[in-house]
Amino acid sequence: MELVIWDLKKFCIFIIMPNKLQTIYACSNCGAQFPKWSGRCLECGGWGSLEMQTVDQKSAAKAITVSPAEIIDLSKISRLTSQAARLSTGLGEIDRVLGGGLMPGSLILLGGEPGIGKSTLVAQIAAKLNTEVIYVSGEESAGQIKDRFDRLKIKTDKIKFLSETNVEKILAALKQEQPTLTIIDSIQTVYSAAVPSEAGSLNQIRASAVNFLEIAKKNNLPIILIGHITKDGLLAGPKSLEHIVDTVIYLASEKTHGYRILRTTKNRFGSINEIGIFEMTSSGFKEIANPSAVFIEAGQNFTGSVISCVMEGTRPFLIEVQALVTKTVFGYPQRKASGFDLNRLSVLIAVLTKRAGLNLNNQDVILNVAGGLRISDPNLDLAVCLAIASSRLNQIVENKIVVLGEVGLGGEVRPVAKLEQKISEAERLDFTQAIIPAGEYNSKKIKLIKIKNIKEMVKFITSATLT
Ligand code: TYD
Ligand code: MG
Repeated sequence: MELVIWDLKKFCIFIIMPNKLQTIYACSNCGAQFPKWSGRCLECGGWGSLEMQTVDQKSAAKAITVSPAEIIDLSKISRLTSQAARLSTGLGEIDRVLGGGLMPGSLILLGGEPGIGKSTLVAQIAAKLNTEVIYVSGEESAGQIKDRFDRLKIKTDKIKFLSETNVEKILAALKQEQPTLTIIDSIQTVYSAAVPSEAGSLNQIRASAVNFLEIAKKNNLPIILIGHITKDGLLAGPKSLEHIVDTVIYLASEKTHGYRILRTTKNRFGSINEIGIFEMTSSGFKEIANPSAVFIEAGQNFTGSVISCVMEGTRPFLIEVQALVTKTVFGYPQRKASGFDLNRLSVLIAVLTKRAGLNLNNQDVILNVAGGLRISDPNLDLAVCLAIASSRLNQIVENKIVVLGEVGLGGEVRPVAKLEQKISEAERLDFTQAIIPAGEYNSKKIKLIKIKNIKEMVKFITSATLT
C-alpha cells in the first residue's frame, strides 16, 4: 500500500470570519424582537406581525465620537409655573381637571371610547380659547368638522383645519404657524414616514407621540392628542403612550344618568384626583358645576336609600347609596354591587351580621352607588351599612340626613377625612342632620348624631328619631 504524504505548506488556511450582519424579527405592533420568525408575536399575541430586520453589528459597534450634552445650571432657570401663565380653556370643569388650565408646552392625551364626545369637547375648547387653533383630523373631512362647529354655533375664523396624516408634514405646518393650541384627532390615524409599520400600530403611535412631544417642548405649544380606547378598554399603545405625554385624561360615560365624566390618570402639572362632569346636549357639552344637586334624586324617600358625601379631588359632593335586601329564594345568598367594591360589601355584610346582630345569612343584598363614578372613599362604609340595615329592617332613613364614617372589623365607626368640608357641602344643600363618628366636631347649622359603632346605628334606625 502506497503511503500518501501531504505537504501542509501547500494548503491555504481559511479562517471563517463571523458574519457582521444579523437578522432579527421585530413585531410591528409592540416592537418586541426575536431571533426566529414565528406566526404569532409571543409578547403581544398579534398574528403575522413579525417583520425581518437586519442589524449591522459592525457599524453598531463602531465608537461614535460625540460632543458632550449641554449642562444646565438649574439655579439660573426661572420657574415655569410662575413665568408662563396657564391658558384658561374657558371651561371651568376642564381647567380644574388639567390643574388650572392648559400649560404651555404640554402634551395632553385625551382618551375615550368612539362616540363618547372627544371631538365635540376639543371643538368647544377651541371655541372658548378664541386664539389661533390648528385642528388636525385624519378621521373627518373639512366639511364634517365645519358641520360640527356650525352645530355647536362656534365661530371658525380663528380655527385652521389640516386634513393630513403625515406627522412630518403636520410638524412643518406647526413650526410655520406656531398656533396657541394644536389638536390631533386622532393619534391612531397619523403616521411618521420614518417608521415602516402601518398607522395605528404601536410603533407608529409611539414615534408620532415622541415627535409631537418634541415640538411641544421646543416651541412651547400645547398639543392635545385624541386617542381611541380599544374594545378591551385600553388606549391603543396603552402604557407606552402614557409615559411619553405630560397629562392623560379620559372621557367616560356615567351609567345611571348618562353624564360624561372627565378624569386624569396622570398629570405632571396638577392633581390626578379632580373630575369634571358634563351633560351632552343637542348643542354640545354643558358643564355640571354643582354635582351634588344632580346625583341625589330630589324628594325620594324609600327604604334602603341613604345619602353620603365623598371627595373627588378637592371637591366634596353628595351621592346616594341604594340597597335592596330580599330573602334568598334558592341556593346561596347573592351579593351584587355597582359603583362599589364587591369584596368590601362582603366585609361590611359580615361586620353587620357579627357586630350588629343583623341576620343577612339568608338574604340577597344588592347595592348601587351613583353608577359609573367608582367611589373609593372609605367614608362611604357607614352609609352602605345603614342602607343595608334600612332595607333589611324596613325602616326609612329621612332624606335630609347625611351619613359619614368608615367601619372597622370590630363594628367601630372611624373618623372621617375632611369632615368639615363634607358637612358644609351638606349644609349648603339644606340637610338638617348628619350621622358622624363620635368625636370633637361641632356644628351650629346641622344637628349632629354621633355614633361609636354600628350597633348604635341599628338602634338609631329602629328608634323614632331617625324615621
Ligand atoms: P364625537 O365628538 O364625534 O365623539 P368622538 O370624537 O369621541 O368619537 O360625538 C359623538 C356623539 O355626540 C354623536 O353620537 C353625537 C353626539 N353629539 C351630541 O349629542 N350633541 C352635539 O352637539 C354633538 C356635536 C354631538
Ligand atoms: Mg371623533
